[in-house]
Amino acid sequence: MSKLNALVAGCTGYIGVELIKLLIKHKFVNILYLCGNSSVGKNISRYDKSFVSKNLPKIVKFNKNFLKDVDVVFTALPNGEAQKISQFLNKKNILIDLAADFRLKKSSEYLRWYKQKHQAINKIKTSIYSLPEINEKKLDHYSIISCPGCYPTSILLPLVPLIKKNLIKSYNIVIDSKSGYSGAGRNVHAKYKKKNLYESLSAYSVGFHRHMPEISQTLKELTKKNVSFQFTPHLSPMFRGILSTIYIDLNSGVSQQNIIKALSSFYKNKYFVKIVKKDKFISTNDVINTNFCHISVCKTNTKNKIIILSAIDNLIKGGAGQAIQNLNQKYKFPNKMGLL
Ligand SMILES: NC(=O)c1ccc[n+]([C@@H]2O[C@H](COP(=O)([O-])OP(=O)(O)OC[C@H]3O[C@@H](n4cnc5c(N)ncnc54)[C@H](OP(=O)(O)O)[C@@H]3O)[C@@H](O)[C@H]2O)c1
Repeated sequence: MSKLNALVAGCTGYIGVELIKLLIKHKFVNILYLCGNSSVGKNISRYDKSFVSKNLPKIVKFNKNFLKDVDVVFTALPNGEAQKISQFLNKKNILIDLAADFRLKKSSEYLRWYKQKHQAINKIKTSIYSLPEINEKKLDHYSIISCPGCYPTSILLPLVPLIKKNLIKSYNIVIDSKSGYSGAGRNVHAKYKKKNLYESLSAYSVGFHRHMPEISQTLKELTKKNVSFQFTPHLSPMFRGILSTIYIDLNSGVSQQNIIKALSSFYKNKYFVKIVKKDKFISTNDVINTNFCHISVCKTNTKNKIIILSAIDNLIKGGAGQAIQNLNQKYKFPNKMGLL
């Protein structure tokens, strides 16, 4: 089988580097172009020593003529940049975006939450938001695949099956998430100069985080319910990983065991989602450097209330790994290809 030629835009970023690591392991992909901005002309090995021995191209500025040579384009760029690139796609190109450019179905919502006008409204209908384990549509007819945000990945995986099966209340859901500071990208230190990233825990975007509309949109689409929730993200003194703690009211007659059974059955054939032993206090350490999501269902001392813990690596399951899963689904490659 001939290999797909890939272009990685945003190759020097935290996500870009992880993507390259996974693509190097992928049997059916050849990295043809690495594109950057301030890094143009440099070697990618400056950004990760493990690339020294790999035969990777020098970093170049994106040029639309490159699209003639490539099959798949990964964009791990600031919001808005993939929209520009999408206008140049030719028939054989597939764009897999890791930013928020094609996550929201309504351009008005994009403007509202991201404070920028959408620059490729005509392309939204050619795009699909795909969290591989819960996406119900085939990717065949879409040329743009939008990967979910890191927080939404950790939140949607436990919530979608439970709301769908009517096991929990679709209101009063409280989500408290902690992320490693790599979630803010390579410039995190300049962005948060006054915060001591290594020794303090900070809440931010309380009640109004940009990932909320995509969580609502996906819950509505997949469960046909209006779900109300509160979400508070935190920047945590660790480099990578997300732990989401989700406080849930059970529907009457539903037990902790029913919840565990429902999740286990929903994810029975989904290799990268693992429902752990009941009441297990999981940690980001269990999943970092992997594409796994671990979910634990914990009892509480309040009747009809449970707490779900969901842990992922924001850079892999919440980013680059998810993109590779989408690549595998799109091209019908084995699900685990490049990910183990
Ligand atoms: N970090 C996460 O946990 C995470 C998870 C899921 C999704 N995402 C999303 O993925 C995207 C990348 O995130 P990241 O954390 O990897 O960011 P990052 O570390 O800040 O990297 C940004 C990348 O974009 C390039 N870039 C910056 N401005 C550009 C421009 N105007 N034109 C072209 N390239 C430009 C940079 O290139 P130079 O270095 O050459 O300047 C760098 O390669 C973001 O949209 C982010 O929201 C991030």
